Amino acid sequence: MKRRAFLKSVAFTGAAGLILPRIHLFGADAPGNKLNIALLGTWGRGEAHFDGIAGENVVALCDVNEKHLAFGARKFPGARQYVDWRKCLDQKDVEAVVCCTADHTHAFVANWSMNRGQHVYCEKPLANCVQEARLVRATYLKHRHKLATQVGTQRHEYENFNRVRELILDGAIGELQEVSAWGDRQLPKPGYLPAAGDPPKDFHWDLWLGPSPAHPWNPDYFSGTSGMNCLQWNMFWDFGSGQVGDMGSHTMDIAWNALDADLPISAEAKGDPFNPEVTPVKLEMHFEIPANNWRQAVRVSWYQGGAMPESPVRYLDLRKIDHGALFEGSKGCLVADFQSRALFPHGNQADLTYYQPRPKSALIPPLGNFQRQWINACKGNLKTACDFDYGGRMIEMLMLGLVAYRAGRKIKYDGTAGRVTDCPEANELLARKYRPGWTLQG
Ligand SMILES: NC(=O)c1ccc[n+]([C@@H]2O[C@H](COP(=O)([O-])OP(=O)(O)OC[C@H]3O[C@@H](n4cnc5c(N)ncnc54)[C@H](O)[C@@H]3O)[C@@H](O)[C@H]2O)c1
Repeated sequence: MKRRAFLKSVAFTGAAGLILPRIHLFGADAPGNKLNIALLGTWGRGEAHFDGIAGENVVALCDVNEKHLAFGARKFPGARQYVDWRKCLDQKDVEAVVCCTADHTHAFVANWSMNRGQHVYCEKPLANCVQEARLVRATYLKHRHKLATQVGTQRHEYENFNRVRELILDGAIGELQEVSAWGDRQLPKPGYLPAAGDPPKDFHWDLWLGPSPAHPWNPDYFSGTSGMNCLQWNMFWDFGSGQVGDMGSHTMDIAWNALDADLPISAEAKGDPFNPEVTPVKLEMHFEIPANNWRQAVRVSWYQGGAMPESPVRYLDLRKIDHGALFEGSKGCLVADFQSRALFPHGNQADLTYYQPRPKSALIPPLGNFQRQWINACKGNLKTACDFDYGGRMIEMLMLGLVAYRAGRKIKYDGTAGRVTDCPEANELLARKYRPGWTLQG
Protein backbone atom coordinates (compact mmCIF):
# COMPACT_ATOMS: atom_id res chain seq x y z
CA MET A 1 0.00 0.00 0.00
CA LYS A 2 1.35 3.44 -0.89
CA ARG A 3 2.19 5.61 2.11
CA ARG A 4 -0.29 8.38 1.36
CA ALA A 5 -3.14 5.95 0.71
CA PHE A 6 -2.27 4.15 3.89
CA LEU A 7 -2.15 7.35 5.90
CA LYS A 8 -5.53 8.31 4.45
CA SER A 9 -6.99 4.98 5.48
CA VAL A 10 -5.90 5.47 9.08
CA ALA A 11 -6.57 9.19 9.15
CA PHE A 12 -9.55 8.70 11.42
CA THR A 13 -7.71 6.65 14.01
CA GLY A 14 -6.20 9.71 15.68
CA ALA A 15 -2.76 11.21 15.91
CA ALA A 16 -1.05 8.19 17.51
CA GLY A 17 -2.39 5.98 14.74
CA LEU A 18 -0.80 8.22 12.16
CA ILE A 19 2.69 7.68 13.49
CA LEU A 20 2.76 4.12 14.73
CA PRO A 21 1.14 1.74 12.22
CA ARG A 22 3.58 2.07 9.38
CA ILE A 23 6.52 0.69 11.27
CA HIS A 24 4.75 -1.45 13.81
CA LEU A 25 2.26 -3.26 11.61
CA PHE A 26 4.58 -3.81 8.69
CA GLY A 27 8.15 -3.24 9.89
CA ALA A 28 10.47 -0.87 8.06
CA ASP A 29 11.66 -3.59 5.67
CA ALA A 30 8.30 -5.28 5.06
CA PRO A 31 7.41 -5.59 1.35
CA GLY A 32 4.35 -3.35 1.60
CA ASN A 33 6.26 -0.62 3.36
CA LYS A 34 8.33 0.92 0.61
CA LEU A 35 9.28 4.53 0.30
CA ASN A 36 8.71 6.36 -3.01
CA ILE A 37 12.09 7.90 -3.78
CA ALA A 38 13.32 10.43 -6.35
CA LEU A 39 17.05 10.24 -7.08
CA LEU A 40 18.55 13.50 -8.33
CA GLY A 41 21.94 12.92 -9.95
CA THR A 42 21.99 9.40 -11.36
CA TRP A 43 25.71 8.84 -11.82
CA GLY A 44 28.76 9.60 -9.66
CA ARG A 45 27.67 9.97 -6.06
CA GLY A 46 24.17 9.05 -7.19
CA GLU A 47 25.46 5.65 -8.29
CA ALA A 48 26.82 5.06 -4.78
CA HIS A 49 23.22 5.29 -3.57
CA PHE A 50 21.81 2.74 -6.04
CA ASP A 51 22.05 -0.32 -3.80
CA GLY A 52 20.83 1.50 -0.70
CA ILE A 53 17.60 2.63 -2.37
CA ALA A 54 17.05 -0.42 -4.61
CA GLY A 55 14.82 -2.04 -1.98
CA GLU A 56 12.44 0.96 -2.07
CA ASN A 57 10.25 2.26 -4.90
CA VAL A 58 12.48 4.50 -6.98
CA VAL A 59 9.73 6.39 -8.80
CA ALA A 60 11.67 9.29 -10.32
CA LEU A 61 15.15 9.98 -11.68
CA CYS A 62 16.65 13.31 -12.63
CA ASP A 63 19.93 14.23 -14.29
CA VAL A 64 20.98 17.15 -16.48
CA ASN A 65 23.16 14.75 -18.46
CA GLU A 66 20.87 12.48 -20.49
CA LYS A 67 23.61 9.82 -20.75
CA HIS A 68 23.72 9.66 -16.96
CA LEU A 69 19.95 9.62 -16.82
CA ALA A 70 19.94 6.60 -19.12
CA PHE A 71 22.56 4.99 -16.87
CA GLY A 72 20.23 5.42 -13.87
CA ALA A 73 17.25 4.19 -15.88
CA ARG A 74 19.02 0.89 -16.57
CA LYS A 75 19.05 0.31 -12.80
CA PHE A 76 15.56 1.71 -12.15
CA PRO A 77 13.59 1.15 -15.38
CA GLY A 78 10.22 1.89 -13.79
CA ALA A 79 11.10 5.43 -12.73
CA ARG A 80 9.94 8.54 -14.58
CA GLN A 81 12.80 10.58 -15.99
CA TYR A 82 13.54 14.31 -15.74
CA VAL A 83 16.33 16.73 -16.60
CA ASP A 84 14.95 19.53 -14.40
CA TRP A 85 14.77 18.72 -10.70
CA ARG A 86 12.06 21.33 -10.14
CA LYS A 87 9.68 19.30 -12.33
CA CYS A 88 10.81 16.06 -10.74
CA LEU A 89 9.92 17.27 -7.23
CA ASP A 90 6.40 18.02 -8.44
CA GLN A 91 5.74 14.36 -9.27
CA LYS A 92 2.85 13.63 -6.93
CA ASP A 93 3.94 10.27 -5.53
CA VAL A 94 7.47 11.34 -4.53
CA GLU A 95 7.76 10.95 -0.75
CA ALA A 96 11.51 11.20 -0.32
CA VAL A 97 14.41 12.75 -2.24
CA VAL A 98 18.05 11.70 -2.48
CA CYS A 99 20.00 14.70 -3.76
CA CYS A 100 23.38 14.06 -5.41
CA THR A 101 23.51 17.12 -7.66
CA ALA A 102 26.27 19.75 -7.65
CA ASP A 103 26.80 21.76 -4.44
CA HIS A 104 25.30 25.03 -5.68
CA THR A 105 21.89 23.38 -5.97
CA HIS A 106 21.80 21.47 -2.66
CA ALA A 107 20.06 24.08 -0.54
CA PHE A 108 17.55 24.72 -3.33
CA VAL A 109 16.67 21.05 -3.69
CA ALA A 110 16.57 20.50 0.07
CA ASN A 111 14.31 23.46 0.70
CA TRP A 112 11.96 22.85 -2.23
CA SER A 113 11.63 19.20 -1.22
CA MET A 114 10.77 19.96 2.39
CA ASN A 115 8.29 22.60 1.22
CA ARG A 116 6.54 19.75 -0.64
CA GLY A 117 6.45 17.49 2.41
CA GLN A 118 9.26 15.25 1.09
CA HIS A 119 11.94 13.67 3.29
CA VAL A 120 15.47 14.56 2.14
CA TYR A 121 18.87 12.90 2.07
CA CYS A 122 21.19 15.63 0.78
CA GLU A 123 24.78 15.01 -0.13
CA LYS A 124 27.32 17.20 1.59
CA PRO A 125 27.80 20.13 1.64
CA LEU A 126 24.24 21.00 2.64
CA ALA A 127 24.68 24.64 1.65
CA ASN A 128 26.95 26.95 -0.28
CA CYS A 129 26.67 30.05 1.93
CA VAL A 130 25.45 31.14 5.37
CA GLN A 131 22.02 32.25 4.19
CA GLU A 132 21.34 28.91 2.48
CA ALA A 133 22.38 26.99 5.60
CA ARG A 134 20.07 29.06 7.78
CA LEU A 135 17.10 28.75 5.47
CA VAL A 136 17.39 24.97 5.07
CA ARG A 137 17.76 24.54 8.83
CA ALA A 138 14.78 26.81 9.55
CA THR A 139 12.57 24.93 7.09
CA TYR A 140 13.63 21.63 8.63
CA LEU A 141 12.93 22.86 12.17
CA LYS A 142 9.45 23.88 11.03
CA HIS A 143 8.77 20.40 9.63
CA ARG A 144 10.82 18.17 11.92
CA HIS A 145 7.71 16.55 13.38
CA LYS A 146 6.94 15.02 9.97
CA LEU A 147 10.14 14.92 7.92
CA ALA A 148 13.37 12.94 8.17
CA THR A 149 16.54 14.58 6.85
CA GLN A 150 20.15 13.45 6.61
CA VAL A 151 23.26 15.24 5.34
CA GLY A 152 25.38 12.77 3.36
CA THR A 153 28.30 12.51 5.74
CA GLN A 154 28.11 8.74 5.75
CA ARG A 155 31.41 8.23 7.61
CA HIS A 156 29.40 9.24 10.68
CA GLU A 157 28.35 5.59 10.89
CA TYR A 158 31.88 4.56 11.93
CA GLU A 159 31.78 3.56 15.57
CA ASN A 160 34.92 5.63 16.12
CA PHE A 161 32.66 8.71 16.10
CA ASN A 162 30.88 7.34 19.18
CA ARG A 163 34.10 6.37 20.94
CA VAL A 164 35.56 9.87 20.41
CA ARG A 165 32.40 11.48 21.76
CA GLU A 166 32.43 9.25 24.85
CA LEU A 167 36.09 9.99 25.60
CA ILE A 168 35.49 13.74 25.39
CA LEU A 169 32.24 13.71 27.38
CA ASP A 170 33.69 11.40 30.02
CA GLY A 171 36.70 13.65 30.58
CA ALA A 172 39.53 11.49 29.21
CA ILE A 173 41.46 14.67 28.30
CA GLY A 174 40.14 16.69 31.27
CA GLU A 175 38.38 19.96 30.51
CA LEU A 176 37.96 20.41 26.72
CA GLN A 177 39.66 23.62 25.55
CA GLU A 178 40.22 23.52 21.83
CA VAL A 179 39.29 21.43 18.80
CA SER A 180 40.85 21.40 15.34
CA ALA A 181 40.02 19.47 12.20
CA TRP A 182 42.03 19.42 8.99
CA GLY A 183 42.31 18.06 5.48
CA ASP A 184 45.31 17.96 3.18
CA ARG A 185 43.66 17.83 -0.28
CA GLN A 186 45.12 20.43 -2.67
CA LEU A 187 43.51 21.18 -6.04
CA PRO A 188 44.88 24.53 -7.25
CA LYS A 189 43.22 26.16 -10.30
CA PRO A 190 43.82 29.59 -11.81
CA GLY A 191 40.18 30.43 -12.58
CA TYR A 192 37.00 29.31 -14.33
CA LEU A 193 37.65 27.16 -17.39
CA PRO A 194 37.72 28.95 -20.77
CA ALA A 195 34.90 28.64 -23.30
CA ALA A 196 35.16 25.42 -25.28
CA GLY A 197 32.32 25.39 -27.80
CA ASP A 198 28.75 24.29 -27.23
CA PRO A 199 27.68 21.62 -24.78
CA PRO A 200 26.57 18.31 -26.30
CA LYS A 201 22.86 18.18 -27.15
CA ASP A 202 22.18 15.70 -24.36
CA PHE A 203 23.82 17.85 -21.66
CA HIS A 204 21.56 20.56 -20.21
CA TRP A 205 24.31 22.99 -19.23
CA ASP A 206 21.92 25.82 -18.41
CA LEU A 207 20.11 23.56 -15.92
CA TRP A 208 23.45 22.47 -14.45
CA LEU A 209 24.33 26.13 -13.87
CA GLY A 210 20.90 26.53 -12.32
CA PRO A 211 20.88 29.45 -9.88
CA SER A 212 24.56 30.32 -10.44
CA PRO A 213 25.77 33.07 -12.77
CA ALA A 214 26.29 31.97 -16.36
CA HIS A 215 29.68 30.53 -17.36
CA PRO A 216 30.79 29.16 -20.71
CA TRP A 217 30.67 25.40 -21.26
CA ASN A 218 33.88 23.43 -20.90
CA PRO A 219 33.88 19.62 -20.88
CA ASP A 220 36.72 19.54 -18.35
CA TYR A 221 34.21 20.34 -15.61
CA PHE A 222 33.00 16.78 -16.26
CA SER A 223 36.21 14.89 -16.91
CA GLY A 224 36.39 13.19 -13.50
CA THR A 225 35.67 9.58 -12.66
CA SER A 226 32.38 8.46 -11.12
CA GLY A 227 32.07 9.73 -7.55
CA MET A 228 35.13 11.99 -7.90
CA ASN A 229 33.85 14.40 -10.53
CA CYS A 230 32.94 16.98 -7.90
CA LEU A 231 36.70 17.65 -7.73
CA GLN A 232 36.46 19.15 -11.24
CA TRP A 233 34.11 21.97 -10.21
CA ASN A 234 33.72 22.33 -6.43
CA MET A 235 36.65 24.76 -5.99
CA PHE A 236 34.95 27.47 -8.07
CA TRP A 237 33.00 29.97 -5.97
CA ASP A 238 29.86 29.79 -8.13
CA PHE A 239 29.68 25.99 -7.90
CA GLY A 240 31.03 25.06 -4.48
CA SER A 241 33.11 26.05 -1.50
CA GLY A 242 36.27 24.06 -2.14
CA GLN A 243 37.62 21.82 0.55
CA VAL A 244 35.69 23.73 3.23
CA GLY A 245 32.39 22.24 2.12
CA ASP A 246 33.91 19.10 0.64
CA MET A 247 36.18 17.32 3.14
CA GLY A 248 35.36 19.96 5.75
CA SER A 249 31.84 18.51 5.94
CA HIS A 250 33.20 15.03 6.62
CA THR A 251 36.13 15.83 8.87
CA MET A 252 34.65 18.60 10.99
CA ASP A 253 31.87 16.07 11.67
CA ILE A 254 34.31 14.10 13.89
CA ALA A 255 34.63 17.21 16.05
CA TRP A 256 31.05 18.47 15.77
CA ASN A 257 29.70 15.12 16.96
CA ALA A 258 31.61 15.52 20.23
CA LEU A 259 30.81 19.18 20.91
CA ASP A 260 27.03 19.67 21.15
CA ALA A 261 27.83 23.03 19.63
CA ASP A 262 25.73 26.03 18.86
CA LEU A 263 26.68 28.64 16.28
CA PRO A 264 29.94 30.55 16.75
CA ILE A 265 30.07 34.06 18.18
CA SER A 266 33.10 34.97 16.08
CA ALA A 267 35.08 33.82 13.06
CA GLU A 268 38.49 34.66 11.63
CA ALA A 269 40.43 33.16 8.77
CA LYS A 270 43.57 33.52 6.69
CA GLY A 271 45.00 31.72 3.69
CA ASP A 272 45.91 32.10 0.04
CA PRO A 273 45.32 35.58 -1.41
CA PHE A 274 41.66 36.03 -2.40
CA ASN A 275 40.84 34.92 -5.95
CA PRO A 276 37.33 35.98 -7.05
CA GLU A 277 36.98 32.83 -9.16
CA VAL A 278 38.52 30.08 -7.07
CA THR A 279 38.26 29.25 -3.37
CA PRO A 280 41.55 29.16 -1.41
CA VAL A 281 43.62 25.99 -1.27
CA LYS A 282 45.59 26.88 1.85
CA LEU A 283 43.31 28.17 4.56
CA GLU A 284 42.78 28.19 8.30
CA MET A 285 39.62 29.31 10.04
CA HIS A 286 38.96 29.79 13.77
CA PHE A 287 35.66 30.07 15.59
CA GLU A 288 34.62 30.83 19.16
CA ILE A 289 31.90 28.37 20.17
CA PRO A 290 29.96 29.30 23.30
CA ALA A 291 29.91 27.18 26.45
CA ASN A 292 27.10 24.67 26.92
CA ASN A 293 25.84 22.74 29.94
CA TRP A 294 28.77 20.30 30.03
CA ARG A 295 31.77 22.25 28.77
CA GLN A 296 33.31 25.70 28.71
CA ALA A 297 33.55 27.83 25.57
CA VAL A 298 35.93 26.28 23.03
CA ARG A 299 37.92 27.42 20.05
CA VAL A 300 37.11 25.35 16.96
CA SER A 301 39.41 25.49 13.92
CA TRP A 302 39.52 24.15 10.39
CA TYR A 303 42.82 23.83 8.49
CA GLN A 304 43.32 22.79 4.88
CA GLY A 305 45.67 22.65 1.93
CA GLY A 306 48.91 22.61 3.93
CA ALA A 307 47.82 24.72 6.91
CA MET A 308 47.93 22.53 10.05
CA PRO A 309 47.43 22.87 13.78
CA GLU A 310 50.59 22.63 15.84
CA SER A 311 51.09 19.20 17.34
CA PRO A 312 50.86 19.30 21.14
CA VAL A 313 53.05 16.16 21.35
CA ARG A 314 56.64 16.50 20.09
CA TYR A 315 56.83 13.02 18.49
CA LEU A 316 53.32 13.11 17.02
CA ASP A 317 53.40 14.18 13.35
CA LEU A 318 49.85 15.30 12.55
CA ARG A 319 50.80 15.61 8.87
CA LYS A 320 50.80 11.83 8.69
CA ILE A 321 47.00 12.01 9.11
CA ASP A 322 45.49 13.28 5.86
CA HIS A 323 42.09 14.10 7.37
CA GLY A 324 41.84 14.25 11.13
CA ALA A 325 40.79 16.01 14.30
CA LEU A 326 42.66 17.06 17.41
CA PHE A 327 40.92 17.63 20.75
CA GLU A 328 43.01 19.47 23.36
CA GLY A 329 42.08 19.43 27.02
CA SER A 330 43.48 20.36 30.42
CA LYS A 331 44.98 16.90 30.92
CA GLY A 332 45.95 15.74 27.46
CA CYS A 333 44.81 15.44 23.91
CA LEU A 334 42.95 13.06 21.65
CA VAL A 335 43.83 12.64 17.99
CA ALA A 336 41.39 10.96 15.62
CA ASP A 337 40.89 10.18 11.99
CA PHE A 338 37.65 8.69 10.70
CA GLN A 339 38.18 5.19 12.00
CA SER A 340 40.75 5.35 14.81
CA ARG A 341 41.83 7.47 17.76
CA ALA A 342 44.76 7.87 20.14
CA LEU A 343 44.76 9.38 23.61
CA PHE A 344 47.79 11.29 24.94
CA PRO A 345 47.61 12.21 28.62
CA HIS A 346 50.26 14.79 29.41
CA GLY A 347 51.67 16.47 32.48
CA ASN A 348 52.14 15.12 36.01
CA GLN A 349 48.43 15.47 36.79
CA ALA A 350 47.37 13.30 33.87
CA ASP A 351 47.19 9.98 35.75
CA LEU A 352 43.73 9.11 34.30
CA THR A 353 42.24 8.67 37.80
CA TYR A 354 39.73 11.38 36.80
CA TYR A 355 38.50 9.25 33.92
CA GLN A 356 36.22 6.24 34.29
CA PRO A 357 35.77 4.21 31.07
CA ARG A 358 32.13 3.33 30.40
CA PRO A 359 30.86 -0.19 30.89
CA LYS A 360 29.92 -1.84 27.57
CA SER A 361 26.24 -1.41 28.42
CA ALA A 362 26.63 2.39 28.50
CA LEU A 363 28.39 2.76 25.15
CA ILE A 364 26.60 4.83 22.53
CA PRO A 365 24.95 2.23 20.28
CA PRO A 366 26.11 1.94 16.65
CA LEU A 367 23.80 3.67 14.19
CA GLY A 368 24.17 0.93 11.57
CA ASN A 369 24.08 1.79 7.89
CA PHE A 370 23.89 5.55 7.52
CA GLN A 371 21.63 5.68 4.49
CA ARG A 372 19.40 2.96 5.95
CA GLN A 373 19.06 5.02 9.11
CA TRP A 374 17.45 7.77 7.02
CA ILE A 375 15.16 5.39 5.13
CA ASN A 376 14.01 3.83 8.40
CA ALA A 377 13.55 7.30 9.88
CA CYS A 378 11.33 8.31 6.95
CA LYS A 379 9.14 5.32 7.73
CA GLY A 380 9.32 5.56 11.48
CA ASN A 381 10.63 7.84 14.19
CA LEU A 382 12.18 10.52 11.91
CA LYS A 383 15.41 10.42 13.90
CA THR A 384 18.76 10.58 12.10
CA ALA A 385 22.30 11.34 13.24
CA CYS A 386 23.02 14.17 10.78
CA ASP A 387 19.71 15.94 10.36
CA PHE A 388 19.52 19.45 8.92
CA ASP A 389 19.67 20.98 12.39
CA TYR A 390 22.94 19.26 13.34
CA GLY A 391 24.43 19.46 9.83
CA GLY A 392 22.92 22.89 9.18
CA ARG A 393 24.68 24.45 12.16
CA MET A 394 27.98 22.89 11.18
CA ILE A 395 27.88 24.08 7.58
CA GLU A 396 26.71 27.55 8.69
CA MET A 397 29.86 27.80 10.82
CA LEU A 398 32.10 26.65 7.97
CA MET A 399 30.49 29.04 5.48
CA LEU A 400 30.87 31.87 8.02
CA GLY A 401 34.59 31.08 8.05
CA LEU A 402 34.71 31.82 4.32
CA VAL A 403 32.95 35.14 5.00
CA ALA A 404 35.66 36.04 7.54
CA TYR A 405 38.31 34.99 5.02
CA ARG A 406 36.83 37.30 2.41
CA ALA A 407 36.31 40.14 4.90
CA GLY A 408 39.97 39.79 5.83
CA ARG A 409 39.39 40.33 9.54
CA LYS A 410 37.91 38.77 12.66
CA ILE A 411 34.13 39.16 12.67
CA LYS A 412 31.58 38.91 15.46
CA TYR A 413 28.47 36.88 14.72
CA ASP A 414 24.97 36.89 16.16
CA GLY A 415 23.75 33.37 15.40
CA THR A 416 20.17 34.15 16.45
CA ALA A 417 19.81 36.99 13.97
CA GLY A 418 22.22 35.52 11.42
CA ARG A 419 24.12 38.80 11.23
CA VAL A 420 27.72 39.93 11.52
CA THR A 421 27.57 42.64 14.17
CA ASP A 422 30.80 44.56 13.60
CA CYS A 423 31.49 44.53 9.87
CA PRO A 424 28.72 45.67 7.48
CA GLU A 425 30.64 44.52 4.38
CA ALA A 426 30.75 40.98 5.77
CA ASN A 427 26.95 40.90 5.92
CA GLU A 428 26.96 41.34 2.15
CA LEU A 429 28.87 38.05 1.88
CA LEU A 430 26.41 35.89 3.85
CA ALA A 431 24.19 35.31 0.81
CA ARG A 432 24.77 34.54 -2.85
CA LYS A 433 23.26 36.27 -5.84
CA TYR A 434 21.15 33.99 -8.02
CA ARG A 435 20.20 34.20 -11.65
CA PRO A 436 16.75 35.67 -12.31
CA GLY A 437 14.04 33.02 -12.04
CA TRP A 438 15.78 31.02 -9.33
CA THR A 439 14.58 31.21 -5.76
CA LEU A 440 15.50 29.20 -2.69
CA GLN A 441 11.93 29.37 -1.46
CA GLY A 442 10.16 27.32 -4.14
N1 LIG B 1 29.34 11.70 0.74
C1 LIG B 1 30.41 11.49 0.01
O1 LIG B 1 31.34 10.80 0.41
C2 LIG B 1 30.50 12.11 -1.35
C3 LIG B 1 31.40 11.62 -2.29
C4 LIG B 1 31.43 12.22 -3.56
C5 LIG B 1 30.59 13.29 -3.85
N2 LIG B 1 29.74 13.74 -2.89
C6 LIG B 1 28.86 14.87 -3.18
O2 LIG B 1 27.92 14.48 -4.15
C7 LIG B 1 27.63 15.54 -5.05
C8 LIG B 1 27.88 15.04 -6.48
O3 LIG B 1 29.25 14.75 -6.62
P1 LIG B 1 29.77 13.91 -7.87
O4 LIG B 1 31.22 13.73 -7.70
O5 LIG B 1 28.90 12.74 -8.05
O6 LIG B 1 29.52 14.99 -9.03
P2 LIG B 1 29.03 14.85 -10.56
O7 LIG B 1 29.49 16.08 -11.26
O8 LIG B 1 29.50 13.53 -11.09
O9 LIG B 1 27.47 14.86 -10.42
C9 LIG B 1 26.73 13.71 -10.11
C10 LIG B 1 25.55 13.56 -11.08
O10 LIG B 1 24.62 14.62 -10.83
C11 LIG B 1 24.25 15.18 -12.06
N3 LIG B 1 23.84 16.57 -11.79
C12 LIG B 1 24.63 17.60 -11.42
N4 LIG B 1 23.89 18.71 -11.22
C13 LIG B 1 22.60 18.37 -11.48
C14 LIG B 1 21.37 19.06 -11.44
N5 LIG B 1 21.29 20.36 -11.12
N6 LIG B 1 20.24 18.40 -11.73
C15 LIG B 1 20.29 17.07 -12.05
N7 LIG B 1 21.43 16.36 -12.12
C16 LIG B 1 22.57 17.00 -11.84
C17 LIG B 1 25.47 15.03 -12.95
O11 LIG B 1 25.16 15.11 -14.32
C18 LIG B 1 25.97 13.67 -12.52
O12 LIG B 1 25.35 12.64 -13.27
C19 LIG B 1 28.55 16.69 -4.65
O13 LIG B 1 27.83 17.64 -3.95
C20 LIG B 1 29.60 16.07 -3.75
O14 LIG B 1 30.02 16.93 -2.71
C21 LIG B 1 29.68 13.17 -1.67
